[in-house]
Amino acid sequence: MMPPMPFPIARTHELLPGRTKKFLVDCDGREIEGFVLNAGGAFHAYVNRCRHVPMGLDWVENQFFTEDAQFIQCATHGAYYLPETGECVAGPPCGKSLVRVPIRIDGDLILGECPQPLPDDA
Ligand code: FES
Repeated sequence: MMPPMPFPIARTHELLPGRTKKFLVDCDGREIEGFVLNAGGAFHAYVNRCRHVPMGLDWVENQFFTEDAQFIQCATHGAYYLPETGECVAGPPCGKSLVRVPIRIDGDLILGECPQPLPDDA
């Protein structure tokens, strides 16, 4: 099997701290929606699927952070996830974590890779 090809998901200057950007990527023939975020200068990316009910976290398009940008919040039932780890810290999916999209920085480009394994319900 070929190693997963990195794909560009954003440029670092697009994402000031507390900002997010959504992206779509084809992974093994499945379209995966993800989002990348800047938490205090560190970039992280996740599949846009709550671990409670498999639906997107953002009700308002691209709105993932709480107002104080301390947590990622699911718009449906209000679960809180840590931006740095994706771990749920409040709400129904506690004990679970968002599915991470591996990323690396190349210059000012943020490159992502398909999550392995792919989430069943993405
Ligand atoms: S769907 Fe996200 S907390 Fe219920």
